[in-house]
Amino acid sequence: MKNLVVSSGAGISAESGIKTFRDADGLWENYPVMDVASHDGFLRDPALIHKFYNMLRGKLVNAQPNDAHYGLVQLEKYFNVNVITQNVDDLHERAGSKNVLHLHGELMKVRSLRHEEREYKLPCDQLTDKGLETSIDTRDPYGDPVRPHIVFFQEAVPNMEQACVLAQQADVFVVIGTSLVVYPAASLLHYAPRNAEVYYIDPRPSAVPSYVHVIDKPATEGVKELIEILTK
Ligand code: APR
Repeated sequence: MKNLVVSSGAGISAESGIKTFRDADGLWENYPVMDVASHDGFLRDPALIHKFYNMLRGKLVNAQPNDAHYGLVQLEKYFNVNVITQNVDDLHERAGSKNVLHLHGELMKVRSLRHEEREYKLPCDQLTDKGLETSIDTRDPYGDPVRPHIVFFQEAVPNMEQACVLAQQADVFVVIGTSLVVYPAASLLHYAPRNAEVYYIDPRPSAVPSYVHVIDKPATEGVKELIEILTK
């Protein structure tokens, strides 16, 4: 089977009712990103950051995968599919995608502040807070405080090397719902081999090289069109 590699951003979850970051009324229009999603912000006011991700987690549990997420699962019948996502939601997993690599972390997880390999999927009865919310007072079984398992701005992207290896093995590379303004994630497109077929699904696409096949539609329609193209 040929390798199909997806690089998804917030736009693929927009039709599930999850706000993107930079569209009108986007997340960063309503919250100062350096206060709620940066390393310095966490050092300055960790309680605010716990509250911000508790709010996002509360919205996520009420959201469902959409036909774009399900369409990528359908393509697993025809391709070896790897999804690389900038999203911290778990909608790709909940739709049934088998191979999902998160570049910017996972909203449904927190991790020890002292031992970052100790991750806890919420709700987790090993933590002093048993539900979906955490705070600066939450402790793990070792008595350590926890933090959202999110890659904040000013922090390294640990899964980027693995993502580049996947992109370099792509026969088909598909970018879905990202403004391509945040690096290093935005550079993944350029790791696809020159003989790979490259597609970009976005209703308001950013500038991309001329060899990219742009489908300027919302993800649910764009993925449907992509399936028709790839399986005809
Ligand atoms: N279908 C497909 N794409 C859509 C849809 C839709 N229904 N609605 C909006 N989009 C597109 C927008 O046109 C835009 O190109 O989704 C993209 C959203 O861009 P951003 O809000 O910048 O989100 P993203 O590119 O994922 O942001 C990258 O920035 O803040 C950080 O860590 C955060 O992972 C995030 C990163």
